[in-house]
Amino acid sequence: MNTLLLPASDDSVAQAADLIKNGELVGFPTETVYGLGADALNARAVLDIFAAKGRPADNPLIVHIARWEEMEPLCHVNGMARKLADAFWPGPLTLILPKKELVPREVTAGLDSVAIRMPSHPVARALIEKSGCPIAAPSGNRSGRPSPTLARHMMEDMDGRIPLILDGGPCDVGVESTVVALTGDVATVLRPGGVTPEMIAAVLGEVQVADSVMRPLKEGEAAPSPGMKHKHYAPKAHMTLYEGEAEAVARRIKEEYDCLDGAEKGLILAASGHLALYGSRSCADLGQDEWAAAHNIFALLRQADADGVTRVFSESWPENGVGLAVMNRMARAAGFDIVQV
Ligand code: TXA
Ligand code: MG
Repeated sequence: MNTLLLPASDDSVAQAADLIKNGELVGFPTETVYGLGADALNARAVLDIFAAKGRPADNPLIVHIARWEEMEPLCHVNGMARKLADAFWPGPLTLILPKKELVPREVTAGLDSVAIRMPSHPVARALIEKSGCPIAAPSGNRSGRPSPTLARHMMEDMDGRIPLILDGGPCDVGVESTVVALTGDVATVLRPGGVTPEMIAAVLGEVQVADSVMRPLKEGEAAPSPGMKHKHYAPKAHMTLYEGEAEAVARRIKEEYDCLDGAEKGLILAASGHLALYGSRSCADLGQDEWAAAHNIFALLRQADADGVTRVFSESWPENGVGLAVMNRMARAAGFDIVQV
């Protein structure tokens, strides 16, 4: 199959909507990462998403909507959902609610709950509106690769597998949406993202963060969200995260970097303000703050792969605000190889 990469415009969005209506797959930008979309109510099209990504069949998809009225046929709405949608939709927040019959089990991987999100990106919204159906879309990477934050990343992973990718420029947030389960008494963050636990607590009064957000699942432990079970965001290089005071972390990273033998290619991921600590060693700039790091992290991991890097040494961020989402992604990319300095 020949994959078209078109700048998002009225015409290309209309073309994409026709493909969705015909049960085909389309790559499209959202404010978080690029998604791989299909008609959420077409079970066969949804199965094609799993095939194109090489995604495990037990990992459910997020259903994207453009208007609040689309919720009612899909799920059982509750008070927490109304409050969070009022505060944060459209935006980088996904709500898990009890599903209704209309949602095919292929979307939810057999679960009784469904994940729903109203994105804010104008291209995503126009595509949903023009398609006339909710759009099921995981991140547009091949399974196990970093999520795409540029159309070019999606092309790397999906060329030849889908008919069309809409290019809407770089994604603003850069990490995937916050996933919050609203199926119990207390809202529980299953995956941190641009809407932080602090922001959710300010609206609901209380929130839990699943403790598996920052540690690997134990042998035999049930995953609150199927996505937690699977290997994620892995660069080809072996990555290690270092936590501690900046100067001490830099000293330790430099020691290890300088021990690499000739066959290895090292890369240091550091905050803008710390780059000078590493001298002439090969460094990539994570950014000024945790929002910049969220925006940059996936593109940097892809670049490391493209450059043939075999060892990544990375600084850490404090786990508050969106820093929790950054650390959640980096810890998984590092296979939880985290060193306390
Ligand atoms: O920002 C995003 O969320 C992007 C854009 C395209 O919207 N999408 C995305 O989808 O990241 P995906 O499929 O890569 O991640 C969805 C996550 C997975 O970890 C999945 O296990 C979880 O949401 N999830 C989906 N339905 C669920 C459910 N019913 N219960 C628990 N977790 C669920
Ligand atoms: Mg994903």
